[in-house]
Amino acid sequence: MSDKGAWWQRGVIYQIYPRSFQDSNHDGIGDLHGIIQRLDYLSWLGVDALWLSPIFPSPQADFGYDVANYTDIHHEYGTLADFDLLLQEAHQRNIKILLDLVPNHTSTEHAWFKESRSSKDNPKRDWYIWKDPKPDGSLPNNWLAYFGGAAWTLDAHTGQYYMHNFDPGQPELNWRNSAVQEAIFGEIRFWLERGVDGFRVDVIDRLLKHPQFLDNPINPDWREGDSTAWKYLRVNSEQQPEVHRVLRDLRTVFDQYPNRVIVGEMDYGLSPEKLASYYGGATEDEDEGDEIHLPFHFGMMLTMWDAGAIRARVDAYEVALPPYGQPNYVLGNHDSPRLISRLGVDGARLAAMLLLTLRGTPTLYNGDEIGMSNTTIPDDQILDPQGRNKVGFNRDECRTPMQWDSSPNAGFSGAGITTWLPLAPDYAQNNVATQQNQPESLLMLYNRLLHYRRDTPALNWGRYYPIDGLPEDCYAFLREYEGQKRLIVLNFAGGNRELHFADYNRGKIIIATHAQREGEAVDLDRITLGAYEGVIIEFA
Ligand code: GLC
Repeated sequence: MSDKGAWWQRGVIYQIYPRSFQDSNHDGIGDLHGIIQRLDYLSWLGVDALWLSPIFPSPQADFGYDVANYTDIHHEYGTLADFDLLLQEAHQRNIKILLDLVPNHTSTEHAWFKESRSSKDNPKRDWYIWKDPKPDGSLPNNWLAYFGGAAWTLDAHTGQYYMHNFDPGQPELNWRNSAVQEAIFGEIRFWLERGVDGFRVDVIDRLLKHPQFLDNPINPDWREGDSTAWKYLRVNSEQQPEVHRVLRDLRTVFDQYPNRVIVGEMDYGLSPEKLASYYGGATEDEDEGDEIHLPFHFGMMLTMWDAGAIRARVDAYEVALPPYGQPNYVLGNHDSPRLISRLGVDGARLAAMLLLTLRGTPTLYNGDEIGMSNTTIPDDQILDPQGRNKVGFNRDECRTPMQWDSSPNAGFSGAGITTWLPLAPDYAQNNVATQQNQPESLLMLYNRLLHYRRDTPALNWGRYYPIDGLPEDCYAFLREYEGQKRLIVLNFAGGNRELHFADYNRGKIIIATHAQREGEAVDLDRITLGAYEGVIIEFA
């Protein structure tokens, strides 16, 4: 077992969508006790940290991303005592817990917003973003919300508009007011004191808006039929450079507690260079940055699933990162189409191997380890505001309940109970229990990869060396740490490919996307990989 670096530099993060993970009290909604019941599974699987999508009290306009109180637990999920038990039980298994902080906006039900909206001279008025209509009565500017319509809603009581980049139920906090920053930092300390190991922070790069609230410029690439959210380039309604000052302040809060981590949700389209800037400048000892530990790198989700394009993305990211920047990779989450629905079964196997062998901290999304797929939801049953308003992917499709076994409701909830979202129709065949009995399954591949990664320093901290001169639909790289070397070879082609590694002789396949090859001795001067096959090789 390796003993270098912080836990988050060698661990694997697993995202739990609590509403859909495990229902312990048979109301059709997942809860904290449900997560506790499944900790042994997570420990078996081999993940190191759980990131829970928001579990705070919320009217659920955006399923918890509209927080009504930052320091309590939503009643459908449990109580603070349940949370303490979860933390304790997880820590006993050496599993860390990250919460999801949503500092950009609250719910309209938050006490701060209720005060703020009560009158124009309320002391908390300036905690949110309020603007008068233009003299002709129109909206303050042309900013649009991600979930459709304007980013402004008129509050008839005071005759002013409040701003929201998402749902009208998610008013934006005014991060140019230092009292807001202090208040949120206080809420963070509450959880850090309680022992949580860190936070994933929602839309962390978008906290500040242009001070003059200038119109956003038209997006020249926008076409009729695209989401209205992108009709204008969002350069003034977000992405303000002064946000780095806020992030440095945030970091000082975390640095007061040992071993805590900030994972930041970043804009998906950031260039590797821009992404790298969110690590911040080097600290005095130059081994860390002074902003976000792990600014989420979503680039791989947008990259064409092609060996050359994937390699180019990894290489550009590796080059852009500062020496102290820990890389990280994400291939699925609660906002995006399911991995297997994007890449197919073969692609999902290759993706598992890629994600768990590249340098850096990987994040998995619950259900991707068994290949859960998008589930179509009839229009009149859509719950996600983005899906209901038809302005983008209906995120309900990737949030259906976890498929544990083939019993009614898949072991997620009791028989005969109506679950908050329907189960995917394939759950009787595709579930954790079934796959645990099949050595060939995707789940068992994840299981082997996770444990092997944990025990192999070359995969934890090893350097990354891409290998040139291969067939164009293959991607191979070496990971190396203190003399320990592992070769990872991935064939993205739908047919066999023969590869010649001139610099290496004999090796042994330790893990393969198709399990029957594991243990095979191979001649690296001439090795054939089957369609969509990936292997990890130890040198003989
Ligand atoms: C983030 C979350 C998403 C949410 C949005 C607003 O992008 O991942 O689920 O809707 O922020 O909070």
